[in-house]
Amino acid sequence: MVSRVIPVEPFDLVIIGGTGDLARRKILPALYQRFVAGQIGKESQIIGAARSEMETESYRSFAAEAIREFTDTDEVKPRKLAAFLKLVSYVTLDAKGEAGWTTLSGMVQENRIRAFYFSVGPSLFGDLAKRLQKYGMAEDDCRIVVEKPFGRDLATAKELNRILARHFDESQIYRIDHYLGKETVQNLMAVRFGNMLFEPLWNSQYVDHIQITVAESVGVGGRGGYYDRAGAMRDMVQNHLMQLFCLIAMEPPAKFEPDSVRDEKLKVIRALEHVKPENIVRGQYDGDGQNPGYRNEVENRDSTTETFVALKAHISNWRWAGTPFYLRTGKRLRDRASEIAVVFKDAPHSIFDEDAGRHHNILTIRLQPNEGIELGVTIKEPGPGGMRLVDVPLDMSFAEVLGPDEADFPDAYERLIMDVIRGNQTLFMRGDEVEAAWAWTDPIIAEWQAAGTEPEPYDPGGSGPEEALFLMHRDGRRWREIKP
Ligand code: BG6
Repeated sequence: MVSRVIPVEPFDLVIIGGTGDLARRKILPALYQRFVAGQIGKESQIIGAARSEMETESYRSFAAEAIREFTDTDEVKPRKLAAFLKLVSYVTLDAKGEAGWTTLSGMVQENRIRAFYFSVGPSLFGDLAKRLQKYGMAEDDCRIVVEKPFGRDLATAKELNRILARHFDESQIYRIDHYLGKETVQNLMAVRFGNMLFEPLWNSQYVDHIQITVAESVGVGGRGGYYDRAGAMRDMVQNHLMQLFCLIAMEPPAKFEPDSVRDEKLKVIRALEHVKPENIVRGQYDGDGQNPGYRNEVENRDSTTETFVALKAHISNWRWAGTPFYLRTGKRLRDRASEIAVVFKDAPHSIFDEDAGRHHNILTIRLQPNEGIELGVTIKEPGPGGMRLVDVPLDMSFAEVLGPDEADFPDAYERLIMDVIRGNQTLFMRGDEVEAAWAWTDPIIAEWQAAGTEPEPYDPGGSGPEEALFLMHRDGRRWREIKP
C-alpha cells in the first residue's frame, strides 16, 4: 500500500493570530509537513498577521523555531526548512483598526485560492469579517477558517453564525473540530459504510450499548484561564465527543459529500434526548505528591468547573431506541487513550452449558494512541478440557497492517488545512450542527448551575470518580479499562 500525495493548487493562506499558540504548535508545523510531503508547491504563500510590529525575517525565525519545537526533530531538515520559509511572510495587522489592511490586500493575489485562518478569540470574528470585505478580500471564492470554542452556549454560537453570515456564505466557512481530522475518525466511516458486515447489525436489536471514551493524562496546564470558564462539557463533550457520537450513530449518508454527511450528523443531534441529572457525573481532579489539584492549578479555590464528565445518552429514533450511549472524558486520568467500543448483545440462546460462560462481541475503534480496529470474537479455548469459550481479538492495528511508515498519519491539522485549500467541507462543522449541539448541552449546564452542586473529586492517574463507575454498574455494565 503506497499513500498518494496529491499536490494542492497554489494558494495564499493568511494566519490571523500568526504569532499565537495555535499557529506555533499546530498550523505552522502542519503546513511545513505538507510542504515536505510535496503537497504544497513553491508558488503558495503563507502570511502571518498579528498586531506585533515585526519584519518578515523575524517572523520566519519565529516559524522556524515553532517548526523545530513541534515537529519530530529528525524530520526538520535545514534545507527543506529554508525552502519552506521562503513561502512565509508577515504583516502587522490591527483587527480592530485600519492598520495593515491595505498592505495585506496588496499581498494576497487575485485569481487563486485565498484562505483566512481566524486563529484569534471569537470576539474578533466580526471585526475581521467586516474588514476582509471592506478591503476587497471577501470575494465568493475565499474561505475563512474558525476554531473552537465556537461560542459558549446556543445564544453566543447563534450570534457568531449571524456575524459571519453577514459577510460570508456558509460554503466559505470552515469550522474546525480537529477530531474530525484524525485518521481513525474517518476510518470509522469507511468501516461502517464500506463493509457489508457491520451495518446490518448496527442498531438497537443487536447492539447492547456503545461507549465513547476520550481520556487524557494531562491536566489543564497553562490554559487555566480559559478552561475554568469552560469545563469538560464545553471543552470536549459539546464538540469532540459529539462528533464521534454522530459518526457512530448516524444513518448512511447518500454520498460522502459535505452536506450529505452533515445532514445525517445533524439528525442525530436533534434526536438526542435530554440527559437527566441522575445520568450524568461531573468530576474534578485532586492533586497528588507530584502535581497540584485542579483548583490550585487554576488558582481558584472555589472552582466548581468539571474536568471530567461521564453521561448516558439516548437517541430517539428507530435505529437506536433503547440503546444507551455512554460517553466519558476527563483530564489527569490513567492514560491518554481514546476509543469507541460497540458492545453487541449476547447470542439469544446459548447452546453451551453454563461453564462456557456468556460472551459477546465488541468492536473497538481506537483513536489514539495505536490507531486501529479490533473485533472481539468468541472461540473455543484451544486444547482438551471440554467446550470452554474464550474471547479473542481480531486485531487490525494500522501500524501492523500498513507498516510503520505508512501508518505515520498526517496530524489532524495537516489534513484539515489541506481540505480547506481543496474546498472540501466534509470534515468541518456546519453552523446548524454547532447550534444543535449547544441546544443539547445548554440545559444540562443550566441544571448544574441551578442545583449548585460541586463536581466529585477524583484522584489523578485513575479512571475518574467512583460515581462514573456506578453509572454503568447500575445498568449491569462496565466501562472498558483506560489503556493505550
Ligand atoms: C482540545 C481541548 O480541543 O482538545 C483540550 O481544548 C484537549 O482541552 C484537546 O486537551 C485534546 O486533543 P487531542 O488531539 O490531544 O486528543
